[in-house]
Amino acid sequence: MCGIVGAVAERNITAILLEGLKRLEYRGYDSAGVAVFTNDGILDRVRRPGKVSELDQALAATPLIGRLGIAHTRWATHGAPCERNAHPHFSGQNLAVVHNGIIENHEALREQLKAQGYVFTSDTDTEVIAHLLAHKLKDLHDLTVALKATVKELHGAYGLAVISADQPDRLVAARSGSPLVIGLGLGENFLASDQLALRQVTDRFMYLEEGDIAEIRRDSVQIWDIDGKAVEREAVQYGDNAESAEKGEYRHFMLKEIHEQPTVVQRTLEGRLSQQQVLVQAFGPEAPELFAKVRNVQIVACGTSYHAGMVARYWLEELAGIPCQVEVASEFRYRKVVVQPDTLFVTISQSGETADTLAALRNAKELGFLASLAICNVGISSLVRESDLTLLTQAGREIGVASTKAFTTQLVGLLLLTLSLGQVRGTLAPGVEATLVEELRRLPTRLGEALAMDSTVEKIAELFADKNHTLFLGRGAQYPVAMEGALKLKEISYIHAEAYPAGELKHGPLALVDNDMPVVTVAPNNELLEKLKSNLQEVRARGGELIVFADEKAGMSNGEGTHVVQMPHIHDILSPILYTIPLQLLSYYVAVLKGTDVDQPRNLAKSVTVE
Ligand code: G6P
Repeated sequence: MCGIVGAVAERNITAILLEGLKRLEYRGYDSAGVAVFTNDGILDRVRRPGKVSELDQALAATPLIGRLGIAHTRWATHGAPCERNAHPHFSGQNLAVVHNGIIENHEALREQLKAQGYVFTSDTDTEVIAHLLAHKLKDLHDLTVALKATVKELHGAYGLAVISADQPDRLVAARSGSPLVIGLGLGENFLASDQLALRQVTDRFMYLEEGDIAEIRRDSVQIWDIDGKAVEREAVQYGDNAESAEKGEYRHFMLKEIHEQPTVVQRTLEGRLSQQQVLVQAFGPEAPELFAKVRNVQIVACGTSYHAGMVARYWLEELAGIPCQVEVASEFRYRKVVVQPDTLFVTISQSGETADTLAALRNAKELGFLASLAICNVGISSLVRESDLTLLTQAGREIGVASTKAFTTQLVGLLLLTLSLGQVRGTLAPGVEATLVEELRRLPTRLGEALAMDSTVEKIAELFADKNHTLFLGRGAQYPVAMEGALKLKEISYIHAEAYPAGELKHGPLALVDNDMPVVTVAPNNELLEKLKSNLQEVRARGGELIVFADEKAGMSNGEGTHVVQMPHIHDILSPILYTIPLQLLSYYVAVLKGTDVDQPRNLAKSVTVE
């Protein structure tokens, strides 16, 4: 889950490495470091706990000048986030390694290497790789050959970049379970865990595949596949359509991304709707034929993406009549799953690199699913490359760690999937598709109306300033919306928040309700409204303060201890998308009041590429 950058060039590469790290900080940010083969002919490094800005300051004080280097921003797995555990890790004075992933057999290797006289200076699994490689080099001499021998002994997941002062003509890299991309320049080449890190220096990229080893020199790149065979990987060119990485008028990326939702939802719909129908081919040319065979759907995802899947279950069963199961990837991948015949396996992911989701997809391929579909925001991700079908959400680059626009575009993608399956299988009620297509077209405007409540929600946030616990309630498809609301609040404001289906309130959580425990709920005007109102009475009767986001036609108004925010009326099926907005704004403003790091909350990372 860490970020890796490497460079081999004719010019000084330190600023390039540092800029790359800043662009990768979304992957991890508890410490950072850089190792450079300096123009004085030595391998030198600077590492700092904390964010990349700390490293930046340290490098300003002690510059490293050189033409070959590697750098890393860390999200700690083995060993606390401190300078000693920060990457790059050295073996001796001449070999430096950066690593993303987890080496599962690090303890056994550490014991072996200690017995051979290697001295460990960190608690990381990565240092094992450095010493093992140094050990192999004693016999094999060539850095690339030694890396090939080293990875054979590693169990687990890794993206690795290595440099050596003894062979300063190259950067070597290995990929297994953790993405790496080579950036191609003129007379210079680069490496990173995400092409975003290198957009500053090139627009031509070569993606390493699982098991690849690469030797990257200034003027050449050589790659060997998992069987050791020399291979060519296709170079892809990207136009400069990268989303701006600037906050613009907004104080935080999260707020900017919340406000981008009407635009990105519009973009996600573009080219996917005809007058009255969803264009099933949006899922790929084989989709119509494949979807006709689907009798069940299994959805697998993590975090916010999992919540999107939970909403989709309500839609798939209610609208398309297709049984659907939803599970978090970390559970699914280790469960002995019984697969129903003709089940479509659907993964949902913003990044397309989440380790558990990818592993679940790989397992699913062995289990006899009908086909796999990825609903993903990154077209060049592993998940997309390894799935049979894809629907790309068009959320653009999401920088805030707490996912917002990725979630609502995923919901749009999942509603398109529901309607496509129902259309092809003829299970939609008459007129439903045309109505929902029309409603989808109006959705960006409705989202804009919800966003206009920004300042109302900001005021409501003040109620949470001194609170430590919050309960979120929802019924039906609003239950996952409540779960997402609770996740957002805990992620960025560090207030303990739990979500419950409102009907479960009296089976336990009601015991917690008092005037220190605000209860947030979303109340669209549907057939569950009256039942929800009774649940809310149960809260009020115990002195719990209520914050209700309610349909303007729901007949709910402010009262003592009850704060009602009127929401624009929307078709019930689309209400989970609309009601997500005020909950995102609420978490945002509570976090701002609490003074937390909104875009990079503590202990979390944007893209979880370790198990
Ligand atoms: C991390 C992020 C979440 C995200 C989850 C799944 O936990 O902090 O915001 O929902 O990973 O990520 P994915 O990229 O697969 O959607």
